Amino acid sequence: MEFYDNYEFGMPLKEIEANLEHWEKTILGASTFQELERLKADIIGRSGVVTSAFKLLKDVSVDKKKELGEKLNKVKSAIEDTIAQQHQKLANYAVSERLKNETLDITLPVENDHFGGLHIITQALRKIRDYYSARGFLVLDGPEIETEFYNFDALNIPKHHPARQSQDTFYLKGHDGMLLRTQTSCVQIRAMQKYGVPLRMVSIGKTYRNDQLDATHSPMFHQIEGLVVDKNPINIGHLKSELRKFLEFFFETDSATVRFRPSFFPFTEPGMEFDCRYTKKDGRLIISSDGDKWIELGGAGMVHPNVFKNCGVGEGAYGFAFGLGLDRIIMLKYGITDIRNLFDTDQRWLRYYGTCA
Ligand code: DAH
Repeated sequence: MEFYDNYEFGMPLKEIEANLEHWEKTILGASTFQELERLKADIIGRSGVVTSAFKLLKDVSVDKKKELGEKLNKVKSAIEDTIAQQHQKLANYAVSERLKNETLDITLPVENDHFGGLHIITQALRKIRDYYSARGFLVLDGPEIETEFYNFDALNIPKHHPARQSQDTFYLKGHDGMLLRTQTSCVQIRAMQKYGVPLRMVSIGKTYRNDQLDATHSPMFHQIEGLVVDKNPINIGHLKSELRKFLEFFFETDSATVRFRPSFFPFTEPGMEFDCRYTKKDGRLIISSDGDKWIELGGAGMVHPNVFKNCGVGEGAYGFAFGLGLDRIIMLKYGITDIRNLFDTDQRWLRYYGTCA
C-alpha cells in the first residue's frame, strides 16, 4: 500500500506537508481560545488529520516508516509551536484588554466584611514579645531543628534521660544528632554563648514532641522561655516576682499569687514548678490573688552551674530560668478546652476568637 497516495484513512503526507503553511496561517488568525482548541483537535488531536496519518505508518516498510515518521513529526511540532505562540498572544491580549477596561476604585465600600487577621497565638506571642522587650529583655529566636548538644547535652540532660528516647523526640532520619527541639530552653544556651553574662532574654516559639494529638496534647506546641543571668547575686525572690508580673500582665489582673513546688529539671538547681491562684467564672479561669485554687503553669529554677560551664560562662554567674506553654496559657485565659481548635482552620472558631473578623 502506498502511503503517499492513500486517501482512505485521511490526508496523505504530501497533502499534509502542503497544508502546513495554510494551517499555520489559520492558527495565527484564531481570535479566541475556543477556536484555537478546535484547530488543535482537528489537526493534531486524537482523531486529527496528522494523528490519523501517524496511524497509517504501521502498514509501511521499516525504511519508509522512519523517513515518513520524521516528516510527520516535523509537521506536528511546527503545528504545536504555532499553537503555543498564538495561545501566548491571545493570553497577552486578554490581559492587556482587561487592564484597559478595568479600573479599581479603592474608595468603594467593601461588600465582604470577612477580613483576614492574626491568629490568636500570633497575637499573644507578639504581645508577650513586646512586654518583655519593653522591660529590657532581648527577644530571641532559635532554630526549630536543633542538635542534641543544644537540646540536651548543654542543658545537663544525661545521655540516658527518658526525654531523649525517640518516643518523645523527633530525630531527623539520616542526620545523626539532629532533632526537632523539644523545648525552647535550648535558646538559653545559644544566648549565653553569644552574649555572655549579664543577660536578660526570652524566646517564644514552636516545640515538638512525639505525642498523640488529643484535647490536651499536640505534637507541635509553643513554649516561652525566660532567662536572667548576672554577675551580681540573683535569687529565687527575683524569679518569683518576674513570674508574678508576667502573669498579671498576660491574664490582665491586678494581682497574681505565685507558689513554687520543688521539682527536678537537670538544668536548674534548685528546680521547681510554679502554680498560680485562680477562681473559675463562667467556665473561664480568672487568675487572681483572691482565688481559692491553684493551677500549675510551668517550670523554673536557678541555672545549674553545669549549664554555665557548658556555655563557656565562667565562675561567679547567677541566674534563673523559667519555661511555660504558650498554648496552655492562651487556652486557660480564653476558656478553650481543646488544643486542636488552635490548629484547625475552622473559620467560625477563628472568627469567634477574633482571629479573623
Ligand atoms: N524546658 C522545660 C520543659 O519543657 C520547662 C522549663 C523548666 C524551662 C524549668 C526552664 C526551667 O527554663 O528552668 O518542660
